[in-house]
Amino acid sequence: MKPSAMFATATLLAAAAVAFAAATPLPPASAAPLAPTPPMGWNSWNHFECKVSDAVVRAAADAVVSSGMKAVGYQFINIDDCWQGQRDAQGNIQPNDRFPDMAALAAYIHSKGLRLGIYSSPGPKTCAGYEGSFGHEEQDAQTYARWGVDYLKYDWCSATGDQRAAYTKMHDALLRTGRPIVFSLCQYGWYGVWSWGASVGGNLWRTTDDISDNYDRMSVLGFAQNGLERFAGPGHWNDPDMLEIGNGGMKDDEYRTHMSLWCLLAAPLIAGNDLAAMSPATLAILTNSEVIAVDQDTAGIQGHRVAEEGPLEIWIKPLADGTKAVGMFNRGTREASMTVRFEQLGIGESASLRDLWTHRDLGEFHSSYEAKVPRHGVVMLRVRDSSLR
Ligand code: GLA
Repeated sequence: MKPSAMFATATLLAAAAVAFAAATPLPPASAAPLAPTPPMGWNSWNHFECKVSDAVVRAAADAVVSSGMKAVGYQFINIDDCWQGQRDAQGNIQPNDRFPDMAALAAYIHSKGLRLGIYSSPGPKTCAGYEGSFGHEEQDAQTYARWGVDYLKYDWCSATGDQRAAYTKMHDALLRTGRPIVFSLCQYGWYGVWSWGASVGGNLWRTTDDISDNYDRMSVLGFAQNGLERFAGPGHWNDPDMLEIGNGGMKDDEYRTHMSLWCLLAAPLIAGNDLAAMSPATLAILTNSEVIAVDQDTAGIQGHRVAEEGPLEIWIKPLADGTKAVGMFNRGTREASMTVRFEQLGIGESASLRDLWTHRDLGEFHSSYEAKVPRHGVVMLRVRDSSLR
C-alpha cells in the first residue's frame, strides 16, 4: 500500500473509532465518587521537570511506601509533562524512550497499592512542547485506560477555543473508558474556573499560575485562596498547585506554613520533591498525620481567613466532628506574639486546644489563646468548644 493510501486508511479507521466512541452512551456515574477527599500523592514536575523517567517514577513509588507516606494517605504517583513520544501510524500516542512500557509501569505502581497519574493537554502541544491530545481525545483516553492510568492532569497551554468544551470533551472520553480516572484541570485559574470546573467533570482545578519553591510565591498563592471556599467540596477541589516541601528553597518553618495552609484549604496534597532523597525534617512535615487529617476531613469544607492584622492572619477550617482547625500565621519577618479570640472562631467561653505540630494537648483556655509564632511560621491548632460533648 502506498504511504498516502495507508494514511487514508488509518484516518478512516481513526474517524470510525471516534464516531463509534462518540455514539457510545456514557456509563452510569460510578457508585464510589472520585476524590471524596482532596487527592494525595506525588508529581514529577516540581523537582524533576523534564528529567522524568520510568526509573524516577518507580523510585518515587518505592519511597512513598518505604517512607510511610502511603500509610498516611499519599496514593497517586503522577507523571507530569515530558513522557510523550510520537504517535504511531494509527495515531496512538507512544511514550518516549525514557518510558519503555507504560502498562508495565502502571502494573508496578498498582502492585504497591498505589495509583498512576499522567499528563496531557487539550492543545496540540503540552507546555514543554511534547505531543498534546488535540484531535485525539477519545484515542488518548482509551490508551490511558488500557495502560491502567488512574488520574489525568489536563494542562491548557497551547490549546485555543472554548475551555469548557475542551475539558468536557476529554471528561466524556474518560467516562467512556469505563475506568475511574480522576480529572485534574490545569488552566491556571482563568475565567473563574472554580465556578464551572465541577460542571465539566473536574475533580480538581488549578486556581493559580505555577508555584515556585520560595516563600513569597508560595504564600502569595496560598493566602489568596480566601473567598474560594464555597466552590470546593467532596469530589471537586480548588487546587493552589503542588507542594514544594523539601525542594530546598524554603526554611522548615516556611514549609510548615505551606503544609498547614494547604491542609486548611482542603487543597490536594501532591508532593513535588525527590522522595528517594528527602531529609527527616521534610518527611516529618509531609507526614504529620494530625495536619493531614485536617486536609482529609470528610466534611470537605475549605477553610477561610477570620482575622488579619498587618502580616498576622488567623484561618479556620470547620471539621466533621464539630472541632475547628485553626492556623495562626505570621507572614512577617520577625517572631510575633499572636492572640486568637474564641469569638473569632464562633466558639463559646472556653475550649480545649491541641497543637498539631508539637502534638501536645495544651489544655483548656478561656476566651482566647496567645502564642509566639516564628517569622513566616505558623501555630496550628485543633480547637474543641468545651460545650461540645
Ligand atoms: C504548566 C503547569 C505545571 C507543569 C508544566 C509542565 O506550567 O502549570 O504544573 O505541568 O506546565 O510543562
